[in-house]
Amino acid sequence: MQFRGETVPKSLLVAACLTWFAASLPALDNGLAKTPPMGWNSWNKIGCNVNEDAVKKAADAMVSSGMKDAGYQYIVIDDCWQVSRDADGNIVADAKKFPSGIKALADYVHGRGLKFGIYSDAGTKTCAGRPASRGYEFQDARTYAKWGVDYLKYDWCNTGKENAEAAYSTMRDALAATGRPIVFSMCEWGTAKPWTWAAPVGNLWRTTTDILDRWEGKGKDYGAGAITIVDMNAGLADYAGPGHWNDPDMLEVGNGGMTPTEYRSHFSLWAIMAAPLMAGNDLDAMKPETGEILMNKEAIAIDQDPLGKQGKRVRHANDQDIFVKPLADGGVAVTMTNRGKDTQTITLNWADAGLPAGKSVAIRDLWQHKDLGTFKDSFSAPVPSHGTVMIRMK
Ligand code: GLA
Repeated sequence: MQFRGETVPKSLLVAACLTWFAASLPALDNGLAKTPPMGWNSWNKIGCNVNEDAVKKAADAMVSSGMKDAGYQYIVIDDCWQVSRDADGNIVADAKKFPSGIKALADYVHGRGLKFGIYSDAGTKTCAGRPASRGYEFQDARTYAKWGVDYLKYDWCNTGKENAEAAYSTMRDALAATGRPIVFSMCEWGTAKPWTWAAPVGNLWRTTTDILDRWEGKGKDYGAGAITIVDMNAGLADYAGPGHWNDPDMLEVGNGGMTPTEYRSHFSLWAIMAAPLMAGNDLDAMKPETGEILMNKEAIAIDQDPLGKQGKRVRHANDQDIFVKPLADGGVAVTMTNRGKDTQTITLNWADAGLPAGKSVAIRDLWQHKDLGTFKDSFSAPVPSHGTVMIRMK
């Protein structure tokens, strides 16, 4: 087949058409998540030990630490809050861990000026073996709305032969039927390529396996380190946009498994990929260096830029990754990551960023919080091993 004078394999054209079609699907019409959701989720740090006190402390700390002012909003309880169903089929929360009940906890979170999220699963049981929502979608959605839930993370364990698009669409409809605005976070791990069909279904969809608190590599059974997750999410930029985001999983910043340099890279790369920013650390006992990363307002502004473009990877060679993200003000954000073992100088040529050679560009460093001056054809910076230089170009 001929395309602009070149011979192109038919399969490639079909794939390109499918990508275009999927990337232009109408987004879920619930008016939510116009920029990637920001908040805190209980799973990465406390897993199944989640309880009422921990959630209240997270809400308090989100306010007192300045996270709320920096844009974080949702407090989400992940798996293990639920124990059974009552005689009428209503989902029952663990009364030992949540003695005041979920409604009271949601009120508490709302009282701090924050929003409240909860977790369920499309199968017969959640990933931790708790009762899930299959067959109870509308009933559960009504319960969540009654409790004041603003965000639902919906997992994919124990789903057998269920069809992902159908199952997630059922819960989307159930949430819509409540009349309450509820962000719908799909956690299907990218198995059925949700980016190709889920824009009209969810506000965000996981694109990868679970993140592990380490720089790279895959876990024995599942999971992957931050930079390995980046490799899985980097090619999906065309599918993201306001109201419908690729979700490369939650943040591990501050959990101890990576160096501060690696955590800065993790955060920079999530921001340039317009990823949801769900902190997963203990907000109540946060080291200053962790707070500096999670509350870097200049990096957050790149993530939350209203144009809503996911940055694209334009270089992935010689242990160098460069991402470029167009911004609403006509500028461009760039990350330059050194994946190697030694410090190296990375050079961004204007052509990498889609800019004409010779153009004068003002550059600001978003970790040094410093204007670096005006550059004409290229910009070079030394980058430490596993580090990232993040800049904004005007
Ligand atoms: C799955 C999800 C995680 C977390 C756990 C809870 O592994 O991908 O994010 O929700 O289940 O059991």
